[in-house]
Amino acid sequence: MSKNISNLSGRIGLKNNLFQKMSERSLNSKNDQGMKELAEEYRMGVSTIHGAESFYEFLRPAHREKKAFVCNGSACMCAGTQEPLKKKLKEKLGNDKVGEMFCLGYCYENNAFHYDGKNFAGKDINKIEEIIEGKDIDQDKFYSKSFSSTSFLMDDKISDLNQFKEHLQKFINFDKQEIVKSLLDSNLTGRGGAGFPTGMKWDFCSKAKSEKKYVVCNADEGDSGAYSDRYLLEDQPLKVIFGMIICGYVIGSDEGVLYIRGEYPKSIESINASINELKKFNLLGENILGTKFSFDLNICIGQGAYICGEETALIASIEGRRAEVDVRPPFPVTEGLYKKPTVVNNVETLAAATGILLNGSEKFSAIGNKKSAGTKLVCFDSFFNKPGVYEIEMGTPMQKVLYDIGGGFKEDVKALQIGGPLGGVIPIKEVEKLNLDFQEFTAAGFMLGHASIVSIPKDFPMVEYIHHLFEFTAEESCGKCFPGRLGSYRGKEMFDQLKNKTSKIPLKLLNELLITMKKGCLCALCGAIPTPIMNILKYFGDEMKNDMVQEN
Ligand SMILES: Cc1cc2nc3c(=O)[nH]c(=O)nc-3n(C[C@H](O)[C@H](O)[C@H](O)COP(=O)(O)O)c2cc1C
Ligand code: SF4
Repeated sequence: MSKNISNLSGRIGLKNNLFQKMSERSLNSKNDQGMKELAEEYRMGVSTIHGAESFYEFLRPAHREKKAFVCNGSACMCAGTQEPLKKKLKEKLGNDKVGEMFCLGYCYENNAFHYDGKNFAGKDINKIEEIIEGKDIDQDKFYSKSFSSTSFLMDDKISDLNQFKEHLQKFINFDKQEIVKSLLDSNLTGRGGAGFPTGMKWDFCSKAKSEKKYVVCNADEGDSGAYSDRYLLEDQPLKVIFGMIICGYVIGSDEGVLYIRGEYPKSIESINASINELKKFNLLGENILGTKFSFDLNICIGQGAYICGEETALIASIEGRRAEVDVRPPFPVTEGLYKKPTVVNNVETLAAATGILLNGSEKFSAIGNKKSAGTKLVCFDSFFNKPGVYEIEMGTPMQKVLYDIGGGFKEDVKALQIGGPLGGVIPIKEVEKLNLDFQEFTAAGFMLGHASIVSIPKDFPMVEYIHHLFEFTAEESCGKCFPGRLGSYRGKEMFDQLKNKTSKIPLKLLNELLITMKKGCLCALCGAIPTPIMNILKYFGDEMKNDMVQEN
């Protein structure tokens, strides 16, 4: 069934993308007519289109009736800014006009909200009248800096069209295997979380036999605490796009797509502007710079589903299917978008590939070690004295990361959640023992992931943090697998009951639930959420002992 939909959607392809059309019609019309026409155009049942539409938060009628949305990500929650913010917005707009969105990527200043297609944060709420009137206001930007001896992600080697042209001219006339070799030698591993070697992924896809192949940039950065992909999309768009074009050249693809989350309007704007500029100067499109190589780019805008960051769900979403996770194998490199060989890479991976080609693989591999090589963007939230996004060498001691680079904390912090909602919750004393290294984090029972840092202040109750994690998973699970769909709700219910003071947490049952989810889930959304919860139970059990009962 899903294969048929992929093929039907693929008949029309990316230029007239089903998901984009479905989203536009859903957001702009109040009746079913548009969806019926779409179903006819794509030769699908109208129920298939409605089935997909109903999957997305932003396309639901209840969401569309709201005017403002406050960020309900972990960093804003820990900062305690969102309840007063919600109150102010409700006073201005009405009680039923304020909803929620999961992480707008303003973790460095909090108070984040979305209004009429734009994001605001920090002190912006003080200008709410001007915002409602549609006036442009001055907004603070994140601070960014590279702390690496060679900057691969933040330097200015490819920040204007002339530089872009010069580098493109060189690399689209380069031996393809040399480019793959360079990536393999660099030891770059995927920055989206799974850590697969990038050179190997490009190599596999280049060897797949197919007339059509795709390059997909995963710009669905949904992890609370992370805004590094947002930084790259908005401040270094040419690095990301360059990585995609070169990937297309290496694997033999003439088309790519950036799947950018709808919560990042400025990122969409910035990438769109870059694509248009590049097309104007024949740096993208047919026969680039007079060569036989053609490559075009499209944008697909996410509609509020965290699971779309998972690559098979992301592909389903682009195809206009419900964004449910698919079983792998087959992996996207052999059967991806529209069932064609596809490279799916994270934003930072693509920018790093560019940085490696421009600076040399040996400089990248010389930093860190074979499995955790090069540099990584790390995001600091507002509890740090120096919040911002920083390029840091792998292998740097976390002591240095937190206290020298991040400047230490403004107030007492008891733990950090590193790597998004699925990453570990690490007591400060334990983080200080580690280095910035994917394997070290995993070996210690945590996860570095995308390296976002959310600080949990001393007085924030850990039972509330677990409730937040279960609530997030219950809301965002795709529903495909039984342990994930049910497990996340059962977990949330346990902590709902504690919150309502109707029951304490049955510890034995909770542990059984966590083990079942860990072992039985199809993907790492509901399958990895036990990690931070088990970390909290292990390290902060004492704090919660009055909320727990040992037996069921
Ligand atoms: C629940 C879930 C969410 C994910 N979210 C993202 C995401 O927001 N961005 C991303 O690049 N990868 C995300 N991933 C990882 C992707 O599935 C995939 O591994 C990645 O895009 C591959 O690119 P890379 O090799 O460059 O890392 C997620 C995975 C899971 C299981
Ligand atoms: S673990 Fe959760 S998100 Fe992943 S497939 Fe199962 S239900 Fe879907």
